[in-house]
Amino acid sequence: PIPDLAEATALARAARRVVVLSGAGLSAASGVPTFREAQTGLWERYSPEQLATEDAFRSDPELVWSWYQWRARLIRSCTPNAGHLAVAAWQRRLAASGDSLTIATQNVDDLHERAGAEVLAHLHGSLFEYRCADCGAPAEHDPGAAPEGDAGSAPDLESMRRVAPPSCAACGVGMLRPGIVWFGEMLPAGALERTLAALQHCDLAVVVGTSATVQPAASLPYAALGVGAAVVEVNPEVTEFSTAASVHLRGAAGQVLPALVRAYDGPHGHH
Ligand code: APR
Ligand code: ZN
Repeated sequence: PIPDLAEATALARAARRVVVLSGAGLSAASGVPTFREAQTGLWERYSPEQLATEDAFRSDPELVWSWYQWRARLIRSCTPNAGHLAVAAWQRRLAASGDSLTIATQNVDDLHERAGAEVLAHLHGSLFEYRCADCGAPAEHDPGAAPEGDAGSAPDLESMRRVAPPSCAACGVGMLRPGIVWFGEMLPAGALERTLAALQHCDLAVVVGTSATVQPAASLPYAALGVGAAVVEVNPEVTEFSTAASVHLRGAAGQVLPALVRAYDGPHGHH
């Protein structure tokens, strides 16, 4: 049993405009390592914070490029979990009745999309968008194109070959870089504004799988509270945000979200 699920279900049932704010914890059950998970072997000496910077990319493009290629191929070998699927089902159901569920994620994976959901904003960018590090031209680069032979199995970080980033076809000079927001960089233009606008018009926000430690994403749930919306937090741990939440469902997203959406499906009041 999930404590306070009944209260959260009542909020979900009454909600017409829902915003879901998701973080790494939603993808954890799919096998996507959270940023801070220990790295092994050759890569042990690099902290993600070191690798996820423009300086690291400029000083050793092959290292940073290879690391992201590994993460992208790993994500390609993962599948959306029950949490992603529940959010996508809820989104379809609300859209069918002329209401809305909007997703803004800190995750750079494409698991929401692969679960069939529309995503309004990838606040920290996406591993599946690339651009020129010099001229900024968007570029095609399918990291999921696994080298011949391996059937989408999770690539072993150790066996990753160090490969140089492709060069930009537009300017012919720059290197491609992942469309990830590296530490110290600006968020994608418009992402924060679109998300804030959705939060200021919602009647329920669901904050799932985020430690609420990285700004400005961590401040977003307060925008919903500020307009009188209810906010439900889904996280097995207590976070900085937990005391401000209307309801904190202490559990794993893969269990809690399906239960919340299933309960919503229950005997309906008038709709
Ligand atoms: N279900 C729900 N929440 C979970 C689960 C789960 N199964 N497993 C872990 N969590 C929670 C953890 O308790 C933690 O609060 O998910 C959160 C993960 O926190 P972080 O790893 O800090 O992920 P996130 O908050 O998305 O990080 C924000 O920091 O790493 C950088 O830019 C990167 O977008 C990332 C940002
Ligand atoms: Zn270029």
